[in-house]
Amino acid sequence: MTGERAACVVGDPVEHSLSPVIHGYWLATHGIAGRYDRRHVPPERFPDFFRTLRDEGYVGANVTVPHKEMAARLVDRLDRSAEGIGAVNTVWFEDNLLVGANSDAYGFVAHLDQAVPNWRDSVRTILIVGAGGAARAVLHGLSLVPDTVISIANRTRERADRLASESKGTAKGFALSDIEALIAEADLIVNTTTVGMTGGATVEWPVARAPETAIVYDIVYAPNVTPLLRTANARGLRTVGGLGMLLHQAVLGFEKWFGVTPKVDEGLRRNVMARLVAGD
Ligand code: ATR
Repeated sequence: MTGERAACVVGDPVEHSLSPVIHGYWLATHGIAGRYDRRHVPPERFPDFFRTLRDEGYVGANVTVPHKEMAARLVDRLDRSAEGIGAVNTVWFEDNLLVGANSDAYGFVAHLDQAVPNWRDSVRTILIVGAGGAARAVLHGLSLVPDTVISIANRTRERADRLASESKGTAKGFALSDIEALIAEADLIVNTTTVGMTGGATVEWPVARAPETAIVYDIVYAPNVTPLLRTANARGLRTVGGLGMLLHQAVLGFEKWFGVTPKVDEGLRRNVMARLVAGD
């Protein structure tokens, strides 16, 4: 190996990606002479950029909006996660072939495992709110958990039904207007929509109806405590924030590119939080 290893995040826009902060922290704490760049590439230039990734000096990359689906079509091989989700967020080279994976499902479950270690013992009924790309990744992660019933509720009912039908019977689609009844039955409630995000829409979450043993997981991480989590906290429910999913999904790429399995620890969390608070 000559020189430092380099990876990047490629997106459009990409300025607000926190991936450089995460990988920069791990490179520094592991004393690795590596580099992690932000590369702004619009859709029309993405296929070329992707094909010449290695010539650009990269051992791999993270792929973010709006390129995740296109990346899934362009890689030489998809791993099981990317095949199941239909989108790629992490790529690396294996025997000269570009391999694509999706670490969002893993990140979602790994953070839940860390935040509520025994959740699998009590969670049988799951409510996923939203039916976009994030919901698809969450559904993939949760569909690997045995003996669960999964409901997907979405503002646009047809998208919920479509996602449910892709799950091959694991999940059932509902309208958002069904949410009160669904929440009343749910052991795990997951928000995958953009509702509650800084500057975004807010809705009244009928969390008062949730069982008192329910776990509420919001994958939105800015703000750190969303209105949904605040309401759930006030009711004394167990809550899980979205930042941990972002941190855990980054583990796979770092491991593939730099050969070390990094830890999601308090130092990393503090570093990324500081950047979020600074509004970078
Ligand atoms: P992502 O890939 O990040 O999941 P997306 O595909 O745009 O992004 O999906 C965003 C999700 O948030 C969708 O489920 C969307 O509902 P629709 O399918 O009806 O668009 C949901 N969403 C966004 N704004 C919302 C709002 N104000 N109320 C309820 N749901 C909302």
